[in-house]
Amino acid sequence: MFEWHNEFSVQIGSVDAQHKTLFAIANELYTAMMAGHSKLVMARILDRLVQYTKVHFAHEERLMRQHHYPEFAAHKAEHDALTAKVLKFQADFQEGQVAMSVQLLQFLRTWLETHIKGSDQKYSPFLRAKAVA
Ligand SMILES: [Fe+2]
Ligand SMILES: [Fe+2]
Repeated sequence: MFEWHNEFSVQIGSVDAQHKTLFAIANELYTAMMAGHSKLVMARILDRLVQYTKVHFAHEERLMRQHHYPEFAAHKAEHDALTAKVLKFQADFQEGQVAMSVQLLQFLRTWLETHIKGSDQKYSPFLRAKAVA
């Protein structure tokens, strides 16, 4: 479900490594769901995914801010929107309001792929020109 492809590369080592980890955790969640694992097991993986997403967004935002990336505000707004959605889902999931679903994971995959291939790749030439690795 979540598979890394070279076309996702932003050619910045630290960012690519984090993106790969995000895909790996999301895939763990998908595998756990397909295997019919308990809500507790899925909640723990989801928690790791939320935490790592925060770590990753903070990393990108630090790089963009540090180098005065001109499209920082729009990029951060995308991060904030996804973070809010995922936190809402996490809360609903924990309260038993919603179940883990293929649709949710598909939404997450589409969001990740679109964001990485769009907004993330957009900052790539700018940050690489500043020798960010
Ligand atoms: Fe990213
Ligand atoms: Fe990003």
